[in-house]
Amino acid sequence: MSSVRPLFVVAGIGNGTGTGAATARLFAKSGYRVALISRGPDYLNKLATELNQAGGEAATFPLKDYTPASIKSAFTSLKSHWPSSPLRVAVFNAGYGVWKPFLDITEDEIRESIDTNILAAFAFARAALLEFTKLEFETANEGGVAGDARKRGTLIFTGATASIRGNTLTSAFSASKFGIRALSQSLAKEFSKQNIHVAHSIIDGTILTDRTKSQHSDDPSWEANQDVRLDPNSIARSYLHLVRQDSSAWTWEIDLRPAHEKW
Ligand SMILES: NC(=O)c1ccc[n+]([C@@H]2O[C@H](COP(=O)([O-])OP(=O)(O)OC[C@H]3O[C@@H](n4cnc5c(N)ncnc54)[C@H](OP(=O)(O)O)[C@@H]3O)[C@@H](O)[C@H]2O)c1
Repeated sequence: MSSVRPLFVVAGIGNGTGTGAATARLFAKSGYRVALISRGPDYLNKLATELNQAGGEAATFPLKDYTPASIKSAFTSLKSHWPSSPLRVAVFNAGYGVWKPFLDITEDEIRESIDTNILAAFAFARAALLEFTKLEFETANEGGVAGDARKRGTLIFTGATASIRGNTLTSAFSASKFGIRALSQSLAKEFSKQNIHVAHSIIDGTILTDRTKSQHSDDPSWEANQDVRLDPNSIARSYLHLVRQDSSAWTWEIDLRPAHEKW
């Protein structure tokens, strides 16, 4: 029997140093075709070239924004790019954060937060679930999960501490991250009956990315000490674990934090 490579899609790549890119790298190595969705065509192309040169199969689907119409169109493009590949894994990793006292937050920031963290998550989930519901269970001749996993697909949302805890500067961010968490829980309950696995991941700490490195530039020990910050590659391994769970023991929510995080 010829093998059909399953398809993995991730939205939110940033500059290629965070969770989205690390997850794409791991799933490419694990036998998935990788569809990359992001607003930054240059970083997207750089990551796709890297994955293809490493023996993977990646393609880019740039969008100008995370409106539902742009997300729908990116999914239409990726399906026509790989018409015979079943979409098996979808990761919604995009996030807009604003950390400000409540009285300083603008209406635009609130809207951006809701549009990126909630509305876009709804659109991404809809596009992924429409694909999953068309599929039979994943079979052993696909490169992803074992053939007895009784699974049509896995949808993962990247959350944050703010998904479960509001704080002094997080009114807009937290309200919208709570929203994604509620969405993911509702979807997990609605779609598990169809053997579609929906999971939410609380990232409870700072992820090591170019942006957070620059925020710790006065303390080089922060980057060097793996016990104090989350490595995006470690998060990616947890996502692969979620995907490989069989249907008798599915996780809806994981929380991930470095060993020395105070919580
Ligand atoms: N960094 C952390 O310490 C941390 C901690 C906990 C949770 N998280 C969560 O982890 C996920 C990924 O964050 P990251 O740190 O890896 O990446 P990042 O550098 O914080 O970039 C944010 C991501 O969100 C996307 N995004 C969409 N709309 C945006 C907007 N209006 N403004 C800014 N970014 C926007 C970007 O997508 P494009 O690819 O289109 O640019 C980018 O991939 C997010 O959901 C975030 O909330 C991060």
